Amino acid sequence: MSPRLRLGVLGSGKGSNFVAIADAIRERNLPVEVALVISDVPDAGILQHAKDRGIAARFIEPGRFRTKLDEESEVAYTSALREAGVEWVALAGFMRILKGEFLRAFPGRVLNIHPSLLPSFPGLEAWRQALDYGVKVTGCTVHLVDQGIDTGPILAQRAVPVHPDDTPSTLHARIQQAEKLAYPAVIETIARSELRVRGRLTGGVPGNVTGL
Ligand code: GAR
Repeated sequence: MSPRLRLGVLGSGKGSNFVAIADAIRERNLPVEVALVISDVPDAGILQHAKDRGIAARFIEPGRFRTKLDEESEVAYTSALREAGVEWVALAGFMRILKGEFLRAFPGRVLNIHPSLLPSFPGLEAWRQALDYGVKVTGCTVHLVDQGIDTGPILAQRAVPVHPDDTPSTLHARIQQAEKLAYPAVIETIARSELRVRGRLTGGVPGNVTGL
């Protein structure tokens, strides 16, 4: 049997991306083990979803800043992941910026999912930004995390239409349907050692672009 990829997942919210990843691992029998789930929010749904599946889940204090981990917390997050033997980290709705120490601990091995077709609409509430801008197509992007905000090499994108009667919540829900396809596809590609990355140019993930 091929060695299992040890994945750490970080999230701040309800955890629908984590659930999609965990379900895909089970249903498709992927060579992946979610070794640890960490949240910066003590009662985040993602922690309960992990516990329900028998996966180790911890709240770790994020420190004194609102939008990033402070130095001490960054060390705590990194150590916990290392102690769990984590090789790749998937950010799944983790609402803090990770920089420096954390990215150096997992060089080129931190993934993020963002609810827009990057480079359009980086940052917060990307679905609302898309709606306010008036685009007719948006979607989601899975990318590698670099020092910038939502700027790393793009691994997968899926498009969804914006309907004339969309509200922020109906559009976000449609984007999240696309996210449930895109994130597991990337993790499967990595687990099968089929991901290719050369600078910003990447390949190997099947099923990109196809809309809902
Ligand atoms: C997802 O839609 C994800 O794209 C977004 O947060 C949501 C988390 O949902 N992430 C960002 O906006 C990151 N900038 P979930 O907790 O149900 O997976």
